[in-house]
Amino acid sequence: MGETFQIPPEKTPKHVAIIMDGNGRWALSRGKPRLAGHRAGTENLRRVIRASVEFGVKYLTIYAFSTENWGRPPAEVRGLMHIFENVIDHELEELHQEGVQLRHIGRLEKLTPKLHKKVLAAIELTKNNTRLVLNIAFNYGGRDEIVYAVQNMLQDGVSAEEVNIELINKYLFTVGSPDPDLIIRTSGELRTSNFLIWQSAYSEWYITPTFWPDFDKKEYAKALQTYADRDRRYGGVSDEHYE
Ligand code: IPE
Ligand code: IPE
Ligand code: MG
Repeated sequence: MGETFQIPPEKTPKHVAIIMDGNGRWALSRGKPRLAGHRAGTENLRRVIRASVEFGVKYLTIYAFSTENWGRPPAEVRGLMHIFENVIDHELEELHQEGVQLRHIGRLEKLTPKLHKKVLAAIELTKNNTRLVLNIAFNYGGRDEIVYAVQNMLQDGVSAEEVNIELINKYLFTVGSPDPDLIIRTSGELRTSNFLIWQSAYSEWYITPTFWPDFDKKEYAKALQTYADRDRRYGGVSDEHYE
């Protein structure tokens, strides 16, 4: 597969964001509990992180837990917290060795103090890594992010005249990451579910019916190829559309 994947660097998305959806249905279709689906999804994430490095993606943002996911049954919420903690405990060292810089987007305050501390330690450990920036959206909501930004701007005494797009970008959780070029959503749903609603203004979308645990390297390569073939116009007109 590696040798057949030939997309020139200028056609490769710098920033890929993924709504990792369909773990529950993947499990259900196998007669397994939903948490087994979340575990399989986590396994798949390892593969996709590695593939991202290989494909030359520089920023990867993954939607792992939304502000709305707190509304799920308590046992599932607890299970998801536990999986996140496990990932930090068991994967951090290897991710660090591979040059992955971990960042978090969303609010950490609502997590247990133990998990909160672990996330901060992981961010600190990996802060100088440059191979891939991995933004983990955990307890993230796009609307909440905008509320957070406005609150902080007011607290900083920002005046109405100073507010512009660049300034808002600086107050978002995603500060330091470019806007996503490509957003992938697995499991076929046609909605944003509150993910990067500001940053996705001109992102390209790729939606596949495949459930997240089955979204393999081959499908990832296909998404990147589709992206490479797109014509991003940003409201303008591309050369070939002029007479
Ligand atoms: C995505 O899978 C993972 C999270 C939202 C945490 P789901 O759990 O939403 O799976 P489906 O959509 O119910 O199949
Ligand atoms: C979006 O998936 C959130 C994550 C993948 C973490 P959901 O399964 O929560 O979204 P809806 O409920 O189908 O919109
Ligand atoms: Mg879902």
